[in-house]
Amino acid sequence: MNAAIETAFTTPLCRRLRVRFPIFGFSHSVDVCVAIARAGGFPVVGLAREMPEEIPDIIKSLERKMQGMPYGIDLMLPGGVPEHGNHASLQEALPIEQRNFVSALRQRFEIKPPSQPSFFTTQVRTQALFDQQIEQVLASNATAIATAIGLRADLIVRAKAAGKMTFSLIGSPRHAAKALDMGVDVLVAQGYDAGGHTGPIGTMSLIPQIVELAGDTPVLAAGGIATGGQILGSMAMGAQGAWLGTLWMAAKENHTPSALLERLVNAASDDTVVTRAHSGKPCRVVRSAWIDAWEQTDAPAPLPMPFQQVLTGDVFTSIHETNDNRLIYEAAGQSLFAIRGQTTIAAQFEQLVSEMREAWLSLQPWAGGETSA
Ligand SMILES: Cc1cc2nc3c(=O)[nH]c(=O)nc-3n(C[C@H](O)[C@H](O)[C@H](O)COP(=O)(O)O)c2cc1C
Repeated sequence: MNAAIETAFTTPLCRRLRVRFPIFGFSHSVDVCVAIARAGGFPVVGLAREMPEEIPDIIKSLERKMQGMPYGIDLMLPGGVPEHGNHASLQEALPIEQRNFVSALRQRFEIKPPSQPSFFTTQVRTQALFDQQIEQVLASNATAIATAIGLRADLIVRAKAAGKMTFSLIGSPRHAAKALDMGVDVLVAQGYDAGGHTGPIGTMSLIPQIVELAGDTPVLAAGGIATGGQILGSMAMGAQGAWLGTLWMAAKENHTPSALLERLVNAASDDTVVTRAHSGKPCRVVRSAWIDAWEQTDAPAPLPMPFQQVLTGDVFTSIHETNDNRLIYEAAGQSLFAIRGQTTIAAQFEQLVSEMREAWLSLQPWAGGETSA
């Protein structure tokens, strides 16, 4: 019986990607991705915040550990960023009001400079950086390439020519239409509830609109999803699976700093906020004293992407490095309600699949009742 139910969960997209469950896991962690693949899901590793010189080794290490299992890579490709940019010189050119505000916060919270360079202290999101990332990703053995916040027609064409599938994270029918025009293979309909960069439409309202628009193009549901019942509900609305991000931060494999894990465990869905303080674009994060400071009436407006991260990248790096329990924050969705303590990816998959089964079975008496009425 269980096996028969599970077969029903294997959607055409799962079969095409050679995975057992319709569970797609986004993570910045190689270890999380490997564990998701082993558990029967499709992992997508985020490389949009890695040092460019480290990306080839990250891909190599991932592919060695994956032993041929299918996986995807995700990049963020926002439009409207400069062609080129040097972190140090741009920093000096930032507006004085925002620089003074951040200096005062550094003093008030006694934030130490980070001891190690990171993406956020050295890189600027520019077209030149994206060009480099695209070459690295196209050279990988990834089955699929996903992009968020923007799309590049040249990447879609080249990925397809290289035999890779293309996924696009979209938050509105307008963005979906653009992705379909470019020939994207899979739409990830990511609602307002999601961790990370998000639009104003809630997941429940977004999915049916995108499914209708997409026609034969498969759609995945994302944003606020952290239970098997929600995954099955998304499939009832026409999605071929769900794409989760926040939930995996509770897994040991993610090596989440302890102060952040504690914050996620203790936070409720309404402790997440959509703010421009992280990147300059609306991004849902779990609140902390750092995020709250940017919401005060005396705070200046955050700078547009990519300049907000040039301004604050050292702080983001430092508060993670020092595990600062006052200030630490991360992208997180309303789905954090399901984070109750540290666990493993295997246990999370077991729970999600068992909840899917329960949800499926719980609907059967209703269907039976209707037939016999
Ligand atoms: C910590 C974190 C970092 C994220 N970074 C990215 C990213 O670099 N690229 C991207 O396409 N999506 C990113 N996302 C969004 C996820 O791809 C996904 O759409 C989202 O997590 C789904 O909603 P959920 O968080 O409620 O599961 C991130 C999400 C989280 C929680």
